[in-house]
Amino acid sequence: MSQGRASDGRSSYEILRDQVEGHPRVLDLGCGDGFLLDLLAGAGHVVAGVDLSGAELLVARQRPSLAAATLLEGRAQALPFTDGAFDACVSHMAFMLMPEVERVAAELARVLMPGGRLALVLGGGGAGGDGAYELFQRLLRPVLADAPAEHRTPRLGDRRTRHREGIDEILTPPGFSPVEWATEQIDLSGSAEQVWSTVSVTYNLMPLDPTIVKSIEDEFLSQAAGLRDAGGRVPCTMNVHVVTTTLG
Ligand SMILES: C[S@@+](CC[C@H](N)C(=O)[O-])C[C@H]1O[C@@H](n2cnc3c(N)ncnc32)[C@H](O)[C@@H]1O
Repeated sequence: MSQGRASDGRSSYEILRDQVEGHPRVLDLGCGDGFLLDLLAGAGHVVAGVDLSGAELLVARQRPSLAAATLLEGRAQALPFTDGAFDACVSHMAFMLMPEVERVAAELARVLMPGGRLALVLGGGGAGGDGAYELFQRLLRPVLADAPAEHRTPRLGDRRTRHREGIDEILTPPGFSPVEWATEQIDLSGSAEQVWSTVSVTYNLMPLDPTIVKSIEDEFLSQAAGLRDAGGRVPCTMNVHVVTTTLG
């Protein structure tokens, strides 16, 4: 999603970076390949990242800006950090995937200092209008309906992360203030191939039969060509929610 832009020209990663300005020590929860950590390190923060995936962390460790960063394999439900270790926590497209989200919220409250800031970008806002994201969903839906149960990705995470009241229900018990909630439409338009590489990671296709995934990709590329605008770009928008709150 790194090439995607909100209406003010920032990427959803830059929106999170700006939300924690002035907070020296920042944790990225579900940091993946370290793209956001790299931005935060560049803005002068002392950064740490945690992720379930050792493979993603290997990529993150290769970023020169993260040579001194603490990057740990671990679960958000049992964070490998001491109490009050951070002034802020960010999480980009990860919190809404996490099961046992109350435990995650309690862990965030534990590792943040009182007054610490939490800023999340959450998926689940749907497509932003006509475009390639709908096309992807339209092609995927019948394939998922026909796939044997063991090939469907189990629904991870908590549906309450899709709306403001639900997020407050999760975050206020361990001491966060009621959240500020904004919806941003991210423009992910580009070549058909670029758009495929963005939309295809919004759903875990790994458990599906690879020949079926290849046929969805071929069909997507062929139909997306018909959506191209005058500049040759395939339009694609996705809504994300930007959630911010403070501990205590
Ligand atoms: C869609 S990726 C987003 C990665 C990165 N934040 C980004 O936006 O580029 C979600 C990430 O969350 C991580 N993740 C999911 N559940 C997790 C958990 N319970 N604890 C730690 N990491 C988790 C995954 O391993 C994955 O790297």
